[in-house]
Amino acid sequence: MAPDAEYVHAAFSAIAPRYVAVNHILSLGVDILWRSRAVELVADWKPSSLLDVATGTGDLALDIQRELPEIEVLGVDFCKPMLEIARRRGLRHALCADAMRLPFKPARFDVLTTAFGLRNMQDYRGALHEFRRVLRSGGHLLVLDFSIPEGVISSATYRFYLHHILPRLAGLFATSASAYFYLGESIERFPRRGAMCDLLVDVGYSDAVCIPLLGGIAAIYFAQA
Ligand SMILES: C[S@@+](CC[C@H](N)C(=O)[O-])C[C@H]1O[C@@H](n2cnc3c(N)ncnc32)[C@H](O)[C@@H]1O
Repeated sequence: MAPDAEYVHAAFSAIAPRYVAVNHILSLGVDILWRSRAVELVADWKPSSLLDVATGTGDLALDIQRELPEIEVLGVDFCKPMLEIARRRGLRHALCADAMRLPFKPARFDVLTTAFGLRNMQDYRGALHEFRRVLRSGGHLLVLDFSIPEGVISSATYRFYLHHILPRLAGLFATSASAYFYLGESIERFPRRGAMCDLLVDVGYSDAVCIPLLGGIAAIYFAQA
């Protein structure tokens, strides 16, 4: 079943104050390396305008704003407590909006990024259509999100960590361990590698590419609108 928007909104509102710290602790800082790989790709596309959807506390948008200070970087999220932190951390343009109905005219942006966001949306296909609508023709989409490793042993080990260890560890640091049980379920549901590339092509994107990260526990997907 797809994630419920009300649940997602409430869960992120609850974990917002500790989101940045808990993320870095639980991922041992590797999420920082993944985002910097995403920033490198974005820089190669030389955009003038970029929309970061589900920007949350602004981690990816802030990295891009720092790396490419001359371009327009706009972050949107439907969770005000997360956005408030993004603003306090220095994100210049942050807007409260639902990713499923973006308040922008067609072909408004050169690049659209979303890190750990699409997986939390009610309708992946609908969201990808909406992202394509606001991208100019030939503009670039980049999705960074969790995945499940492909090998039998590595996937079983990772699933044990994801469903049994991570929520308990998170309970020690975060205000809501239940959000981290939800994390495991949402990763299981999310299309992986080939399936995600097929979905992107089905929605109308071209040249879909998947870069697995850290043995496949996360991946960057990119494609052109
Ligand atoms: C795991 S956080 C990711 C935040 C940030 N991109 C990062 O890399 O840390 C997921 C974010 O997606 C947002 N989100 C989920 N569904 C959304 C929707 N339909 N519209 C806008 N934001 C949404 C949540 O509010 C939350 O801030």
